[in-house]
Amino acid sequence: MSLSIEFAGVSFKNPVVASSGVITRSFYGAKKCIEAGVGGIVIKSVCHNPRSWPVPRPAIFFFDRYGCIGANTDIETGFLPVEQGVKLLNNLKPIAKKEDARLIGNINLSGVSKLNEEEAREISDIARKLEDAGAEMIEISMSCPIMSVLEHGTSFWSYMPDVDLQVKIIRTLKAEVSVPVFLKLPFEKLIKNVDKLEEAGADAHSLATRIPGTVIDIETGRPIVPLPHYYGPGEIAHTCYHLSKLALKATRPITVGGGITTSRDVIQALMCGATLGSVQTAVMRYGHKHLTEMGDGLKSFIKRKGYSSVKEIIGIAAPHVENIEEYVKFFNERLLPKEAMSITVDEATCTRCGICTNCPYGAMTIDDFPKVDLERCEFCGTCQSICPVAAITIKPKTVCRTPNL
Ligand SMILES: Cc1cc2nc3c(=O)[nH]c(=O)nc-3n(C[C@H](O)[C@H](O)[C@H](O)COP(=O)(O)O)c2cc1C
Ligand code: SF4
Ligand code: SF4
Repeated sequence: MSLSIEFAGVSFKNPVVASSGVITRSFYGAKKCIEAGVGGIVIKSVCHNPRSWPVPRPAIFFFDRYGCIGANTDIETGFLPVEQGVKLLNNLKPIAKKEDARLIGNINLSGVSKLNEEEAREISDIARKLEDAGAEMIEISMSCPIMSVLEHGTSFWSYMPDVDLQVKIIRTLKAEVSVPVFLKLPFEKLIKNVDKLEEAGADAHSLATRIPGTVIDIETGRPIVPLPHYYGPGEIAHTCYHLSKLALKATRPITVGGGITTSRDVIQALMCGATLGSVQTAVMRYGHKHLTEMGDGLKSFIKRKGYSSVKEIIGIAAPHVENIEEYVKFFNERLLPKEAMSITVDEATCTRCGICTNCPYGAMTIDDFPKVDLERCEFCGTCQSICPVAAITIKPKTVCRTPNL
């Protein structure tokens, strides 16, 4: 079973990609990602601005000890000087070739607010160098929350790069390189301008979920980092929602990153309209084997569901994510009297764990086996959805059909 997929005319052996960041900054890390079986890697951003090169130490803050397992924030610019990015690509080329993984260059322009002639030439020159070094596509990152603070003294959440600037960047680079070029932007900065970016020649879109979340250290009464910026599993729901909106508007393929932590998340992202799903935080937290597991999980899902290819699932959920007509129908179908409902607990499946006794109406008790007090039960669905082994079924007693006249 092959998971191969085409993205902006380039073939990927599977849709799992290691996104640009600390995991693809060193030869060691990037090689480990490739060897874990990803379809491609985006190397750490290169940047022409020396202010972005230093790595603050420490720069990465996981929130595990504050109760948000697997989530993090970072103040890691640490962008690579161009020559270092070129060297990294050159060194990775034979490994990527052997493993059939695509190499994607990334130029960080998050701090740029205009593009004069000289800057345009400089950026073109960087793109060409990356292409010559083996980058098979170029992602332009305009999604770094740190650079807008450093360069503009303003919070990322209020900073909106000008669409004319985005268009100019695409046009400049399209004229310079022959590989696909696209921008990496947060949703609110991408959805508004998607038509203009496509008109300018963007070959794809890279959606970077960014939520202004924070975590407070209750011992000090201060946020762990004094700039709201939160990556991790909690982001996946935002990713799916924004992605589905973008997918309905965009005509070019989408690569997405933000909270993708399991193979289920990759599948959700594809169903909401992405062609590639990228991962950073989950690799930092759970290791490279996580990338392998995502590919394997995706493969067994496609096989189990009998899809002929991974392409078949792309975008299937997108039109249903916010569908008012469907929602009203969904709601109305559930306006049933208590008497019409049944609740059963399957004896063979139930492990007697007792979780279902969290019932908000006190209707579920457990002695040897869970017992429902039908007087109290409102058939709300809580127990059914929290039972870890799906032993509880709630459904209408009879299905009413219009007689066939
Ligand atoms: C430590 C760290 C460094 C990052 N560096 C970059 C970068 O240099 N360029 C870039 O485009 N994105 C960078 N990112 C963003 C990631 O590529 C990705 O968009 C983001 O982490 C969301 O995905 P995740 O939920 O899988 O972490 C970085 C993220 C982290 C956590
Ligand atoms: S939560 Fe599920 S498995 Fe646990 S006791 Fe209730 S029905 Fe049984
Ligand atoms: S459906 Fe709701 S009310 Fe009924 S037993 Fe389950 S949790 Fe309690």
